[in-house]
Amino acid sequence: PLVSGAEVVLAAAKAGRGVGAFNVIQLEHATALIAGAEQVGAPVILQISENAVKYHGALKPIGLGTLAAAAAATVPVVVHLDHAMDRDLVTEAVALGFTSVMYDASKLEYADNVAATTEVVAYCHDHGVFVEAEIGEVGGKDGVHAPGARTRPDEALAFAEATGVDALAVAVGSSHAMTERTATLDFELITQLREAVPVPLVLHGSSGVADPDLTRAVEAGMTKVNIATHLNNVFTAVVREVLAENPKLVDTRKYLGPARDAVATEVARLLGVLRAT
Ligand code: G3H
Ligand code: ZN
Repeated sequence: PLVSGAEVVLAAAKAGRGVGAFNVIQLEHATALIAGAEQVGAPVILQISENAVKYHGALKPIGLGTLAAAAAATVPVVVHLDHAMDRDLVTEAVALGFTSVMYDASKLEYADNVAATTEVVAYCHDHGVFVEAEIGEVGGKDGVHAPGARTRPDEALAFAEATGVDALAVAVGSSHAMTERTATLDFELITQLREAVPVPLVLHGSSGVADPDLTRAVEAGMTKVNIATHLNNVFTAVVREVLAENPKLVDTRKYLGPARDAVATEVARLLGVLRAT
């Protein structure tokens, strides 16, 4: 079923489990992610980014499809708006029934980030929606690998207290859109942040993080772990292989289907790595 962000993320944080948060671009992602979570009986977060909305031209078609898939799932599924900078998009997602949003004002100066995030938190909490925000911008969204950013524990605490956010994305060495899993995480900083910040922590750009370090990050105090590029890698590799082997193939189901199955298998495996059950 579709469940609230609070239900899944707070329970995991309390128990020291990780929660897999994977991105939906096509509907095949949504069904693959749910199938993978069902294979291992773990809750899962399906997230649609503002960039994916731009790609589709609107939130509603992919958003409603994803919400419908979530409602039919046998495991708890959160449907989350990822990296939203547009406040109208937050309002729209809440109205459609999304149960969690990330409002990303991390590009703004600290005081502006606090002010904007506080307003979004008030709105979302009025509607029973879980809110994630970011402090200390995780790089790489522009395609340039930028692992150097770090979130200061004192600033993270002040930000969490000032805004009332439910979860906090922090910069600890990962970077968005890495196609190789070579990131070096700052585990000492994760531990310091865990001790300083009262809300669950979110690791972005986790595609660049190798399996053992993902487990270690959860053990050190990360809760929500966002993985997108790595699963696109798995998906596209299968599409390439099937098309190369079958140059006459035209039915999209014949290459998207196997790609979807491979993503489901990898999600099931990753949920084990993240200690999500
Ligand atoms: O918000 C989404 C994630 O941070 C995913 O990043 O594509 O590098 O795994 P990634
Ligand atoms: Zn991210």
